[in-house]
Amino acid sequence: MSELKKAEEPKVGEALYHIRIGKGQIPRFVFLPGDPDRVKVFAKSWDSSQLVAQEREYLTYKGVYKGIELACTSTGIGSGAIAIAVEELLRVGADTLIRTGTTGALWKDIGIGDLIISVGAFRADGATRAYAPIEYPAVANYEVVNALVEAAETLGVNYWLGITYSTDSFYLGQGRPGFGGFTNEYSEKIVETLKKLNVVNMEMESSTLFTLASIYKVRAGSIFAAIANRETGEFVPNAGVETMVKVSNEAVKILYEWDQKKKEKGKRYFYPSLIK
Ligand code: URA
Repeated sequence: MSELKKAEEPKVGEALYHIRIGKGQIPRFVFLPGDPDRVKVFAKSWDSSQLVAQEREYLTYKGVYKGIELACTSTGIGSGAIAIAVEELLRVGADTLIRTGTTGALWKDIGIGDLIISVGAFRADGATRAYAPIEYPAVANYEVVNALVEAAETLGVNYWLGITYSTDSFYLGQGRPGFGGFTNEYSEKIVETLKKLNVVNMEMESSTLFTLASIYKVRAGSIFAAIANRETGEFVPNAGVETMVKVSNEAVKILYEWDQKKKEKGKRYFYPSLIK
């Protein structure tokens, strides 16, 4: 292999450079929290689990939940970091990616610890500009959205559905003052503008996940625990994370069953009467 080839597709042995995972080492269903500590919360919730790899912000465990093989990789924060995770996880065998993150809610009735399921995202990120014109939509896969809703209903948890604002900026980009109170016109207006547009939440990775998933013809979705509410001003770290983990695990079980049904009936797409 030439030096040029190595720089184009960096690997360490057979493993992809950033995630340090080789082809076939992980199953098709992968959860994507930002925080490596949350990967361990997932691993503990499964019937069995094992460490796959750890490099920079990318920690991966795989395991089995109710007979289904799944994995969890932390992506770090922002579009650049998750784009790398998505690029490399697809190369090693993932085909259904579910972001399991935390978020700031924009609707006042959303309680701290409630769950939010995204149907699509504003592309206020940086990474996807390298992939597609800005008119290209960042939409969640409808099967993943439906499976998350089904799981949330089955478990009887409080959840909300809507459009997400994804930005690379936690402070100014989400209407928070910068160091020393620095602000600008964009930052002063962004929260009010998004509320007017009925956007449900703000976070930092989903637009990248959805855009890349659509381009690469794989399934993606996002579920969040609301740890902040930008209308009431509340902020409680980790609120709702355990509930989000339970709903996400069940959603993968549901997706697995729906995939089996599709196969059985020779259908490309899931639709509700397929399970009658
Ligand atoms: N993550 C974000 O991006 N914003 C919040 O307010 C909370 C979590």
